[in-house]
Amino acid sequence: MSLPRIVGFTANLQRPSKTRALAEAVAESIGSRARADIRLFDMVDAGTGLGAAWSRDLLPLPARRIVEAIEAADALIVGSPVYKGAYTGLFKHLFDFVDPNALAGKPVILSATGGGARHALVVEHSLRPLFGFFNALTIPTAVYASDADFRDGVLVDDGVRARVADAAGQLVAILGARAQIHAPAALAGSQASGAFATAGR
Ligand SMILES: Cc1cc2nc3c(=O)[nH]c(=O)nc-3n(C[C@H](O)[C@H](O)[C@H](O)COP(=O)(O)O)c2cc1C
Repeated sequence: MSLPRIVGFTANLQRPSKTRALAEAVAESIGSRARADIRLFDMVDAGTGLGAAWSRDLLPLPARRIVEAIEAADALIVGSPVYKGAYTGLFKHLFDFVDPNALAGKPVILSATGGGARHALVVEHSLRPLFGFFNALTIPTAVYASDADFRDGVLVDDGVRARVADAAGQLVAILGARAQIHAPAALAGSQASGAFATAGR
């Protein structure tokens, strides 16, 4: 059976990056709970041509590959640095090219970093509505970290690390439940297969 494909995309414009480090912490936490094919991309991977593209046809190949990976994923980890109280313009610009139907029902972990704690709710009032547009299944626990939560580029704050673990656990639980419902072996010979058989159709 193929592993679930989990794609991370963060909107950092530099490396090293706190936003990417936060997504890496989420990915590691998922990886410690389940076998998965996890790939992380950021804005550096997309290249500077993304900002000049006005249509999907005009996307440079690296950016198009990221859009395609996002659409094909079974689940997403998304993250952005806070710029002027919201996700960055380029983060939104990239998701403007994602097929509006491609993320429906897809589990998505929301994350963001900022200079301080003042904009911690950006994950709720900025990121969650965007993925609501896509009918994505946003994970209840979103993760925000500020400069003080990192030491030498590594996420060290226990409270944020606990939220990372919560979010990862919630995502893995959803993927695990879906795998059981879709696995033919789980249905074969089952006496109590009614609910699963209905859900699996
Ligand atoms: C143009 C710009 C705007 C910013 N606006 C905010 C802001 O409104 N609120 C905030 O908390 N931090 C703000 N910051 C700080 C960054 O969000 C913060 O340093 C972030 O963690 C950087 O992430 P990175 O290391 O992945 O690049 C801003 C930084 C830049 C460059």
